[in-house]
Amino acid sequence: MYKSHTCGELTAAHIGKEVTLAGWVQKTRDKGFMVWVDLRDRYGVTQLIFDEERTPKEMVLKAKELGREFVIQITGKVIERESKNNQMPTGEIEILVTHLKVLNASLTPPFTIEDKTDGGDDLRMKYRYLDIRRNPVRENLIFRHKVSMEVRKYLSDKGFVDVETPYLIKSTPEGARDFVVPSRMNEGQFYALPQSPQTFKQLLMVGGMDKYFQIVKCFRDEDLRADRQPEFTQIDCEMAFVEQEDILETFEGLTRHLLKEIKGVTIDKFPRMTYDEAMQRYGNDKPDIRFGMEFGELNDVAQHKDFQVFNQAELVVGIAVPGGSIYTRKEIDALIDWVKRPQVGALGMVYVKYNDDGSYKSSVDKFYNESDFEKWTEKTGAKPGDLICVLSGEKNKVRAQLSALRMELANRLGLRKSNDFAPLWVIDFPLLEWDEETQRYHAMHHPFTSPKPGQMELLKTQPGEVKANAYDLVLNGNEIGGGSIRIHDRKVQEQMFNYLGFTPEEAQAQFGFLMEAFQYGAPPHGGIAFGLDRLVAILGGQETIRDFIAFPKNNSGRDVMIDAPAIIDEDQLKELHLKLDL
Ligand code: AMO
Repeated sequence: MYKSHTCGELTAAHIGKEVTLAGWVQKTRDKGFMVWVDLRDRYGVTQLIFDEERTPKEMVLKAKELGREFVIQITGKVIERESKNNQMPTGEIEILVTHLKVLNASLTPPFTIEDKTDGGDDLRMKYRYLDIRRNPVRENLIFRHKVSMEVRKYLSDKGFVDVETPYLIKSTPEGARDFVVPSRMNEGQFYALPQSPQTFKQLLMVGGMDKYFQIVKCFRDEDLRADRQPEFTQIDCEMAFVEQEDILETFEGLTRHLLKEIKGVTIDKFPRMTYDEAMQRYGNDKPDIRFGMEFGELNDVAQHKDFQVFNQAELVVGIAVPGGSIYTRKEIDALIDWVKRPQVGALGMVYVKYNDDGSYKSSVDKFYNESDFEKWTEKTGAKPGDLICVLSGEKNKVRAQLSALRMELANRLGLRKSNDFAPLWVIDFPLLEWDEETQRYHAMHHPFTSPKPGQMELLKTQPGEVKANAYDLVLNGNEIGGGSIRIHDRKVQEQMFNYLGFTPEEAQAQFGFLMEAFQYGAPPHGGIAFGLDRLVAILGGQETIRDFIAFPKNNSGRDVMIDAPAIIDEDQLKELHLKLDL
């Protein structure tokens, strides 16, 4: 055994014991006749002392040579520390070393292995294995482990079976591009890596598996953001003989269990909101409901008053910013500049200060009087001391812009508290979504999603109005899960592909296997997938999923540590029947 104890467990109770420890040198302090070394492992830090009077001389000399991150093994006696440190669990003791063995030397690390390191993002990613030695990164990985163990336990106890599905498959449309893998044995043909195991989990239902789950890697070639990685992990689930209500209850149960077990937070029934309501009240299908600032639509009270900008707008909508009436002209101008940034895209912003004394001051005083502003106040729920910010324009755009402003202001005002948890279900999503680029409808969730009962007919006349049996689980303004009740009838699925612009031949070539399976007694079924990385990050009080992934990719989809993607050599290309034309 390399060690008798870890570096995190020795206390006053061990005084007098002989112990052997192994780990990394965090730091050394050389006082000439005495050398102190902080020894670190996964479990903590223990102070070692090398003392010329009590430690063999050659060991003291060896200790003086130790550098940061050397791997060592020591044997010594646990003694009481003279100056105790009650900030650390091992702070009452130190080890008087009698024997030191250097197991491996280390180069000086390129950044400090401390909670607050001097290493920038890129450097830390290049040397991620050193980054993982830091407490915050290690703790995040252990936290992730705890969440996924809890998930497994909960689902297994409820009768879900963990089934693995293949990674080398055919395209599964989840709205992103596929990563593809050339086949050596089948010239000119490619596998696609799964964007999700969607079709396989449906086939497992046809196979009678009834309750399936898998904690599984998914691959999507899409633009990366703080909450997106090209490979990420889903808690993927499917159930047969269920309706939407069964799915919502089961997975609300899982989420409630995690919040309780992991965060000690008890949440009663999760609120539910239709997609239309979420868009109207928050301009967003994943609203953060930890705070208010709900949208107030102002068309009735702000139009037809000579202010042409509003008169011409499809939607005039505002929010009340708590305490914002004290913002200076300069601060408000900065806010206006913020909404005009290309990323937000508003053309301007109207503001009304609702002062503490009940008076109003606005950028549109010329067009509106106090009684108008009283109505604006009512619609936005503004209180004396608030600032009403109003945007106008085309409905969908202006909602997105005001939602961005709402989130930005909530961040600035500290309203997005990481230890508050506000889950909700967003239900009744539209089945289809108009895509400007291709000028046609796409499935908003995926093409296997069933319309709400009785809405199939509406597909012919008003496709944009059809609602789906689809739902998202939202936590603190993040979509942490999404799913739907599926189509399980071949004819309906064929019709759906037809509405989505697939020719029968294309539908057959891509999804013939699924439609064929539907002919052999496919049970009604539905499911959901959680984004594990997102769930873990949010439970951990953060929104950047990279911090909870051991070896993440950067924003250009690169692993800078192993330097991937990389070119492959000519022979390998030839074997794969590929020619590069760069
Ligand atoms: P969906 O596409 O909504 O549904 O994905 C489910 C959840 O996965 C997470 N997620 C991601 N996380 C990190 N990086 C990404 N690039 C990324 N993309 C998605 C989100 C999302 O809510 N097959 C369906 C599920 C179903 O219908 O059962 C699916 O994949 O948290």
